[in-house]
Amino acid sequence: MNQRASIAVVGSGYVGLVAAACFAEMGHRVICVDNDETKVRMLREGGIPIHEDYLPELLSRNGQNLVEFTTDLRGATHSSDAIFIAVGTPQSEAGSADLSYVDAVASEIARSINSYKVIVEKSTVPVYTNEWIRRVMERNGVPRNLFDVTSNPEFLREGTAVADFLHPDRIVIGAATERAADLLKNIYRPLTSGEYYRGATAVPGPRSQADPPPILLTSTKAAEVIKHASNAFLATKISFINAVANICESVGADVEEVARGMGMDTRIGPKFLRAGIGYGGSCFPKDVAAFRHVAELAGVEFSLLHEVEKINAEQRSRFFQKVRSALWTFRDKKVAVLGLAFKGGTDDIRESPALDIVSMLLHEGCKVSAYDPAAEQRTKELIPPGAQMQYVDDPYAAALDADALLILNDWAEFADLDLERLHSALRFPIIIDGRNLYDPATMNQKGFSYLSVGRPVSSQLADLATTSRLPRQPERHHGIALRDQPFGSA
Ligand code: UDX
Ligand code: UDX
Repeated sequence: MNQRASIAVVGSGYVGLVAAACFAEMGHRVICVDNDETKVRMLREGGIPIHEDYLPELLSRNGQNLVEFTTDLRGATHSSDAIFIAVGTPQSEAGSADLSYVDAVASEIARSINSYKVIVEKSTVPVYTNEWIRRVMERNGVPRNLFDVTSNPEFLREGTAVADFLHPDRIVIGAATERAADLLKNIYRPLTSGEYYRGATAVPGPRSQADPPPILLTSTKAAEVIKHASNAFLATKISFINAVANICESVGADVEEVARGMGMDTRIGPKFLRAGIGYGGSCFPKDVAAFRHVAELAGVEFSLLHEVEKINAEQRSRFFQKVRSALWTFRDKKVAVLGLAFKGGTDDIRESPALDIVSMLLHEGCKVSAYDPAAEQRTKELIPPGAQMQYVDDPYAAALDADALLILNDWAEFADLDLERLHSALRFPIIIDGRNLYDPATMNQKGFSYLSVGRPVSSQLADLATTSRLPRQPERHHGIALRDQPFGSA
């Protein structure tokens, strides 16, 4: 029998708001706390500050009865059995995680606590944060029997966050006492018992009543390390395949075939082997850096992580070099850009490789015509529209009269473009695809000069692509190839 819990979630961002909506979907009462008054007002009025599939449905379905929004952490602490901390843990200048928001929230909980509470780390935090939160509580005079601090890391991906939350591979609970572990087990019981998946309105996903998610009970420290190590490992997988892609480019193999072949080995698995312009987002870059910092503090030489970061940074430069090879010069060229967010399916532009490339283009004097289904507004806060940066409403408008089109993230609609329409919109039919969304042979057939990552290039650009593999001798190759082979037929 599932028992309804009273839960406070502190931080209504990409992680906190999704967690809150999903806890309500599982039947719990949830108070969302955020210190940003504008955000809280918007949420109270039914607005949703982020783009995330299923989030609007879940909040409108359960919002009225089960979810409350407030800035009052004290009141929320009083009314809750468990308090999930999901505030930001950004990267500090030294590369470590900046835990000042977590500290501030823990201190306020300590000043407010009036009965036994389980404090749960949901944000990604370095090992020992649990200990620090405990110390903050004790320093504020809170008796040991009034609280437990646990770690329950979240593995959701933006864009598919709700489905990831409700259909997890595993639920990790790091707890030092049975009392705290039991409370968390009870919170997740609708999922672990399979009951949630029986409901007619359950969000669809891989889990089912017959195959519910398992719980892994660990120490708090192990749970903290699991989260950092998982993100660092996934980032490593991406950098690994990107390095392999670069080898493929040199030797004339197709990285997509290679990744398929590697992924069929169940020890390796097919996921997170998509070559491209490198990883971005609010998690991988900062978590790899933070984990590297944790290793340093632990006296462990983990230079692998440094290499992962280096390969990731180089991947963007290599891509930009390809664009340079195709365009020769940049000043006043018009470049169409599909994708601004750090990946498809989200409006999040934090650490977006796409935006990095856009900045490089603008810096070189290009005119950029950009389309992203959700990230335009956030991008405008960073790069205001102006003579050089234009936002349009669809891929074909972006392509109109452009000297080349770049695909920089992987929204599903970018993989399903009307190629004939695109061809006639572009000034020159050149596509440089940073996400390998199309088959090079098909693109060639359709009359495009098509460059992608780690794959054979279409004949027209073959010489130029070679240039991007040979960054030490670019000028000579650029000049000859461009003069000998003017682009396109327009
Ligand atoms: C956050 C962490 O950055 C990340 O490390 C972790 O893995 C998941 O949680 P995210 O949800 O993407 O990620 O952060 P963000 O969208 O910035 O949301 C954080 C929210 O916390 C914001 O709404 C902010 O207003 C709020 N906040 C911040 C507080 O309510 N109190 C604070 O003291 C600080
Ligand atoms: C990640 C983790 O996947 C998630 O478990 C954790 O909770 C938060 O961090 P997220 O950052 O939302 O999630 O997105 P993810 O889908 O993991 O992609 C991260 C970056 O890697 C994106 O820039 C994406 O484009 C890139 N990526 C991903 C690749 O380049 N290749 C791949 O094969 C997979």
